[in-house]
Amino acid sequence: MDLESAEVRIEPATAGDVEWSAQIMASSEPWVTLRQTRQKIETGLRRAGIELWLAHRGPQRAGLIVLDRYGFAGSPYIKSVAVAPNERGRGIGTRMLNFAEEHFAGERFLFLLVSSFNAAAQRLYFRHGYEKRGELPNYIVEGYAEWILSKRLPPRN
Ligand SMILES: CC(C)(COP(=O)(O)OP(=O)(O)OC[C@H]1O[C@@H](n2cnc3c(N)ncnc32)[C@H](O)[C@@H]1OP(=O)(O)O)[C@@H](O)C(=O)NCCC(=O)NCCS
Repeated sequence: MDLESAEVRIEPATAGDVEWSAQIMASSEPWVTLRQTRQKIETGLRRAGIELWLAHRGPQRAGLIVLDRYGFAGSPYIKSVAVAPNERGRGIGTRMLNFAEEHFAGERFLFLLVSSFNAAAQRLYFRHGYEKRGELPNYIVEGYAEWILSKRLPPRN
C-alpha cells in the first residue's frame, strides 16, 4: 500500500452518500456517454440488493464502489466504481478493487462490465487481473459495447 492510499478508509454508505455518488457519476464519463442521468443512477443505487461503499480520505468523500453479491449470472458483480475527479490517479480505485475482492472472498469469480470506449478503466482492470470474457454490442447505447470482465478469486484457505 502506498502512503497516499494508507489514509483512505472504505465504509458503508451513510446519509447523503447516495446523492453525492449519483452526482459524481452523472457528471463523469462513462455515464455521460451512456446517458445515465443523476435520477436514473440514484434509483439504481437505492435498489434492493445493491451495496454502496464510500472511500474517504480524512473527512472528505473520495470515491464509491457499488457491489451486488448475486449481480452477474448469480456471481458477485462490481456494478460501478468512481473516484472524485480531484482524487483520480492516487490509488483509490485500486484500493476499492482490492476491497471488493476481500468482501467477496470465498466466491469463485468476480464480474464487472466496462464500456468499450473506457480505455483508462480497462487498463486498470487488466492490470488488476481481470480478463475479457465477452462483449454485449449496443447494450446501453447504440454504437458502443459493454465488455464482460471477470477475475477468478483465490480459494479460501
Ligand atoms: C477508473 C477509476 C475508477 C480509477 O480510479 P483511480 O483512483 O483513478 O485509480 P488508481 O489511482 O488506483 O489507478 C490509476 C489508473 O487508473 C487510470 N485512470 C482512469 N481514469 C483516470 C482519470 N480520469 N484520471 C487519472 N487516472 C485515471 C490511470 O490512467 C491509471 O492507470 P495507468 O497507470 O495505466 O494510466 C477513476 O479514474 C474514475 O473514477 N474514472 C471515471 C469513472 C470510470 O471510468 N469508472 C469505471 C467505470 S467501469
